[in-house]
Amino acid sequence: DKGNHRHFMLKEIYEQPEVVGHTLGAFVDLTTGRTRLPASASIDFSTVGRMALSACGTGYYAALVGRYYFERYARIACDLDVASEFRYRESPLDDVDLALFVSQSGETADTLASLRHAKAEGVDTAAIVNVDESTIAREAAHVLPTLAGPEIGVASTKAFTCQLMALAALAIRAGVAKGRISPAQELELTRTLQEAPRLVNEAIKLESQIEQLAREMATKSHALFLGRGFSFPLAMEGALKLKEISYIHAEGYAAGELKHGPIALIDDTMPVVVIAPHDRSFEKTASNVQEVAARGGKIILLTDARGAAARIVDEAYTIVLPEMPEILTPIVYAIPLQLLAYHTAVQMGTDVDQPRNLAKSVTVE
Ligand code: F6R
Repeated sequence: DKGNHRHFMLKEIYEQPEVVGHTLGAFVDLTTGRTRLPASASIDFSTVGRMALSACGTGYYAALVGRYYFERYARIACDLDVASEFRYRESPLDDVDLALFVSQSGETADTLASLRHAKAEGVDTAAIVNVDESTIAREAAHVLPTLAGPEIGVASTKAFTCQLMALAALAIRAGVAKGRISPAQELELTRTLQEAPRLVNEAIKLESQIEQLAREMATKSHALFLGRGFSFPLAMEGALKLKEISYIHAEGYAAGELKHGPIALIDDTMPVVVIAPHDRSFEKTASNVQEVAARGGKIILLTDARGAAARIVDEAYTIVLPEMPEILTPIVYAIPLQLLAYHTAVQMGTDVDQPRNLAKSVTVE
């Protein structure tokens, strides 16, 4: 049931404040502010020195954010592969203490094959899954549920932000277990995570502004998405979302990679979406944006009030999000990217919930 919404995708975008909050509750005791694991998992992170993360598509971009979280907050080194490569690249797993898989459906064939491979190699396994009676949930040693509820739209939205929430809370949990995060810091970080539903809701309120922007985007045949640090995976996810449902060719890059090739694509017809909260990466991203502007690229800047006030270029279509601690930016900045893809697709008249050639769950390798 789509409720009052025209598509499941839009309904699912609007559900995010609620389901992100629910998912947080699975990993944080909201009365004490302490991280915890659900009953279906018993991971002792104090003994985890190295992790292998693997997933497909949007789950892979969530895992990429997860790697930044685990390395930053718990100092756990993370290997990361798309599942179709993890299974076959014969990476030695002897020093991997935990293999973590991320899947909405819990049925993705490549992710399942990778999970089985890790188990066969004797590695402890955990899965962040949205469907708790799925094959991956049954076979993983530890199950870490996202509480997004059923996701019908083929383009993943609420499952992604719930995966990010689970990963953020787990990274804090791991940091505490490894003595990298003090009890006071744990409380501060979980209090920050509790701000996510409100901030996601603020981001949803930008919809009409993004709809305007989508009218312009719908006239383009290519787009670039750039981000650094925590925003790099978001650039990839924003590009994936746009190409999946609007069929506009889009690429996401680490902003610093621009001058190593893709800058050749920039001319005055190229929209460049830049994800740039005013975080520790901001100054560096700003200089990349200036390089794009100098070549006539049309900049769409997702930032906050401080980032907008920095006036890094003369001309940009700027979308101003609330200011927030860094750990929340991937979750909140996902929203305008989803809305941009959604409204561009609506403008173009494509089948938003059932895009051509795609299936919700990919059960063949
Ligand atoms: C993107 C999308 C796909 C899935 C991928 C993995 O919007 O939906 O890229 O993320 O097929 O699916 P799950 O998470 O079910 O393993």
